[in-house]
Amino acid sequence: MTLAAVARPNPGYGAQMEGDEPGVTAGEATRDDAREDVAVLHGGVANAGAVVRVGGHVVRPSNAHTGTIHDLLRHLHDSGFHGASRPVGVDPDGRERLVFIPGEVPVIPYPAWSQSDESLASVARLLRRYHDAASGYVPPVGATWSDEMIDHGVPMVGDGADQIVVCHNDVCLENVVFRDGIAVALLDFDFAAPGRRQFDLANFARMCVPIDDETSVRFGWRPADQGERLRIVADAYGLTAPERETFFTILAGTIAAGGAFLRRRAAAGDPNFVAMWQSTGGEARFDHRRQWFEQHAARFRAALG
Ligand SMILES: Nc1ncnc2c1ncn2[C@@H]1O[C@H](COP(=O)(O)OP(=O)(O)O)[C@@H](O)[C@H]1O
Ligand SMILES: [Mg+2]
Repeated sequence: MTLAAVARPNPGYGAQMEGDEPGVTAGEATRDDAREDVAVLHGGVANAGAVVRVGGHVVRPSNAHTGTIHDLLRHLHDSGFHGASRPVGVDPDGRERLVFIPGEVPVIPYPAWSQSDESLASVARLLRRYHDAASGYVPPVGATWSDEMIDHGVPMVGDGADQIVVCHNDVCLENVVFRDGIAVALLDFDFAAPGRRQFDLANFARMCVPIDDETSVRFGWRPADQGERLRIVADAYGLTAPERETFFTILAGTIAAGGAFLRRRAAAGDPNFVAMWQSTGGEARFDHRRQWFEQHAARFRAALG
């Protein structure tokens, strides 16, 4: 979910290779906001203006699922996956505290480097590594997840149940830290919930190929061979032939359901989402995208091989 802002490097940029551990460890920074420079971090809509960097930490609003999300994130780090936010804890005022991850996070208008095929493939590879790490996670008794972006097509038993992991559910460029154009970490697990791997990958592809009509130009996307980029996502993730089938079916479903989350938040009166809904064309934008996708669906399916 995005809000127009200016491209901004995360201070503390350090050259590390894909998969390296972010260079800040939990507990390194002080918890005393008053003694540190506090900088607002832009990039999101849900918590716009409320995410701040305090030294080596990020402090942001928590929610009913924060305890479960921190449990997941701790499991990932303990099992050797370091490409995700690392929790420090919850402050006395209720805000969550995470380790700041140095690098660059693209915001609208997306810089050219973040639109490259290499960057796209690197996010798909990172998502694969995340899913593989998350597949070993057993949520604790009483775990709760957001249902706002949840995969409603989850088969609980039988065929496909082995494809269920805790999906991130919001892999847009604003939620990825890059170094030298390569994705190194996923941020913002607020919408994480159990679902099919291909569901997470399809939503990422929709937002970052992007699978969108010409209105995506207003977000800064430059014209590209979208079929080729869709194939790059599937190849970089390592989808098998049958998985491509599921992937495409889910992708078509997310386009058909287009805008449901934004519509709900805007209808509920959330000012950040009302502004976004209005400034991006509201219902008409999603109607147009649905029609556009129907015209091009066969081409996208063929591109996947
Ligand atoms: N752990 C982190 N390390 C580095 N940057 C971060 C971190 N968490 C958030 N940010 C920055 O803050 C922005 C907004 O944070 P995010 O958690 O995505 O909030 P929102 O819920 O509003 O989308 C991100 O787009 C990113 O630029
Ligand atoms: Mg975000």
